[in-house]
Amino acid sequence: MLHGKRILLVVAGGIAAYKCLDLVRRLRERGAEVRAVLTAAGAQFVTPLSLAALTENKVYQDLFSLTDESEMGHIRLSRESDLIVVAPATADLLAKMAHGRADDLASTVLLATDKPIVFAPAMNHRMWSNAATVGNVRALEARGAIRIGPNEGPMACGEFGPGRMAEPAEILDAIERWFAVRAPLAGRRAVVTSGPTIEPIDPVRFLSNRSSGRQGHAIAAALARLGAATTLVTGPTHEPDPPGVSVVRIETAAEMLAACRAAMPADIAVCAAAVSDWRVAEAAANKTKKNGGKPPTLELVENPDILASLAALGSGRPRLVVGFAAETENVIDNARAKLAKKRCDWVVANDVSPGTGIFGGERNTVHIVEDGGVESWPTLTKAEVAARLAGRIGDVFAADPFASKA
Ligand code: C5P
Repeated sequence: MLHGKRILLVVAGGIAAYKCLDLVRRLRERGAEVRAVLTAAGAQFVTPLSLAALTENKVYQDLFSLTDESEMGHIRLSRESDLIVVAPATADLLAKMAHGRADDLASTVLLATDKPIVFAPAMNHRMWSNAATVGNVRALEARGAIRIGPNEGPMACGEFGPGRMAEPAEILDAIERWFAVRAPLAGRRAVVTSGPTIEPIDPVRFLSNRSSGRQGHAIAAALARLGAATTLVTGPTHEPDPPGVSVVRIETAAEMLAACRAAMPADIAVCAAAVSDWRVAEAAANKTKKNGGKPPTLELVENPDILASLAALGSGRPRLVVGFAAETENVIDNARAKLAKKRCDWVVANDVSPGTGIFGGERNTVHIVEDGGVESWPTLTKAEVAARLAGRIGDVFAADPFASKA
């Protein structure tokens, strides 16, 4: 099932282009949303009207179209999809892709994308076995593009050999397998909080903590890699923006809560931020002066609990809400108490007592605490913890593919 998956179909100019209409029909039957980019040569073989009718979407053809660029720029076109399928992939388009050329909409989208690419070659068998094409295909596969076909058989030109585009059923099957294995979270939305919050005392001073944001950023990256449309709400950190993630920068806990709410609805919420428990009741409008040697008294008030408020959203609650528990003693018991108090689904508990080097460090030893029990993981890098956690989240959704989408 491809429910909710967004596929961008690039149709290049080959006689096999007619088969892409059947492919669109099959993808739509399985619930996928399809947008099509048609090259100038492709439009010699299938009409934009047929593609628009079958996709029930606008068909994109022109790199320099003012209307298209204002409605949906070519960067957005490539980013707002879970998978790009090039069918038919002609020798010419494969050469452009391999060499990074961008002289029309199709090649520009393919160069600008950070999404996985599946391609179904279709061409005369001599073109297919030409060393130039062989080298281009190898280069694309080495970069992670997935090839389907071509098949051997009689060709439109009357010759016989490898070069016939794979049948729509084969392409569909490969796409479904790809989604099941590689992108169990495609079509899902995730919100991740990361980093510290900072709470102003006055315009130049603040309360904060030592959170590096490493673990939260790695989790956002890992969820995006599994196909989730991921929003990372982060306090100030030195971490680079994770690829393929939309990043919202905030400073205070109140801003973090507002940004998380604005990112709803979501299927998954992972709260990895070290939110300041308190803020100064009323931050001073001007820099507080030394008052004849008498230090000021700060009145603190409690910050909103973002994890607990996302878990309490009622019908709009993310299907899976995951919290973190940084503890210095009784790690598991305290995590269990947190699970109950905050009403989240999992708590990722870790020991951050001095000497563990976890705050700001590279490695993490965690226990996944849920109602059913505790799963303890070995010491891993934060990137490994993130990948494993995202995989565990992926398993939940793969096991229940019909769970309603946010
Ligand atoms: O209560 P404690 O801070 O130990 O709980 C940790 C978990 O709760 C983390 O997942 C953290 O991101 C989240 N939290 C939050 N908002 C707060 C405090 C903690 O989301 N104000």
